Amino acid sequence: MTTHLPSFPAVNENPLDTCLRLREIAPVVEVEFPGGVPAYLALTHKAVREILAGDNKTFLRDPRHWPALYDGSIPEDWPLRAIVQGGHLSTMDGGDHRRLRGLVGRAFTPARVQALEPRIQQIIDGLLDDVVAAGDGVDLVPAFTEALPMWVICELFGIPAEDRLRLRNWTATLLAHTTPPEVAFATQNELQAFLHELVERKQREPGDDLTSGLVQARDEGDRLTTDELVGVLWLMLVAGHETTVHLLGYAVVALARNPGQLRLAMAEDRWADVVEETLRYRHSVMMTSFRFTAEDVTVAGVRIPKGNAVGVVYQASGVDPAEYGDSADRFDITREQTGHLGFGHGPRYCIGAPLARLESRLALASLYRRLPRLSLAIDPDDIAYSPSFFTIGPLSLPVDLGLTAS
Ligand code: HEM
Repeated sequence: MTTHLPSFPAVNENPLDTCLRLREIAPVVEVEFPGGVPAYLALTHKAVREILAGDNKTFLRDPRHWPALYDGSIPEDWPLRAIVQGGHLSTMDGGDHRRLRGLVGRAFTPARVQALEPRIQQIIDGLLDDVVAAGDGVDLVPAFTEALPMWVICELFGIPAEDRLRLRNWTATLLAHTTPPEVAFATQNELQAFLHELVERKQREPGDDLTSGLVQARDEGDRLTTDELVGVLWLMLVAGHETTVHLLGYAVVALARNPGQLRLAMAEDRWADVVEETLRYRHSVMMTSFRFTAEDVTVAGVRIPKGNAVGVVYQASGVDPAEYGDSADRFDITREQTGHLGFGHGPRYCIGAPLARLESRLALASLYRRLPRLSLAIDPDDIAYSPSFFTIGPLSLPVDLGLTAS
């Protein structure tokens, strides 16, 4: 398949810059994804919000609504197939989607999340002890911003500590657009096998964790099949850490670039505001996997015919001047938040938002309380970002701890 559409991602340009460039053309633009596959990108706040409000009606997630995937137009070995055909909560619609969301929601109540606070704080304190022990030059990504969300989500779902790194690597491989197709499929298979094995283990030896709770729901006839259960686990485990990892990374970079904002956050304990502004300013979800048009539809004035794929670009929606004015690209924790789309909107609103908010606020408050003179040991312009257009964040953040007397 070849088209004459603009390429996405573009060679030698970061995906956000490409999206901002394309947004000059129209709020919704048809582009060519790797493999010559055409799909639309929604690039403004208004267009993204309109699409999210149409979820489960005009916009569907079941890939069978994208004929090109099955009629030979898109090759069998297209690298993004593994993600697009995921077979989980986010690729289901209507009643199935509501049923699975309901099951997760019952296990994942705000009260249960709130009760995690002391444990999360304990994990943070332990990680910061290790950061301090490692000394200047320590890489904050593996040591803190990645370690914390991995630890919390794995503990919640009863995944042993020795499997955390594997889960992290599988996720990063699957979400990278640079992963060759055969590696993407092999990774998906390995992760699925791991999750099936986890379910069997929790059936034999249940614990006080969410996987055991979901296994019990299945066995008590809650209309949940084992494949659906594995699909729910897949999404909760992947979405439940990858996004928070990158949110923390972006917050550290934004605060390093804006020392006045850091001083304000420290002086007035405004870590919740830092989290909200980071969600708006540099969303860790660049775009989610595709939605498909159930009928001909017009979004922000642009017509998209039935049976097409659309990606909503959260990252571009957060810095849209039409929504946030001239200061859209300024990191400002005093900004009045008027409804950023950081956790989505409508029927697919993020299930993990309370956990992500709690974890991130505690992590940033503790990091800067313990290390008030923390600084990046790398020029922010030289930071490498993950090679993915689904979720993006810093790959490595070497820091100086500021502990030695000057
Ligand atoms: C900073 C952290 C996070 C961000 C920025 C984030 C963002 C989002 C966004 C934008 C969506 C909507 C996706 C769409 O358009 O289809 C979403 C959905 C979802 N999120 Fe999060 N998320 C975060 C953390 C979490 C955590 C910690 C969990 C689980 C523990 C989680 C689980 C989910 C699930 C299961 C969905 C799918 C909901 C559905 O399809 O109905 N997320 N998230």
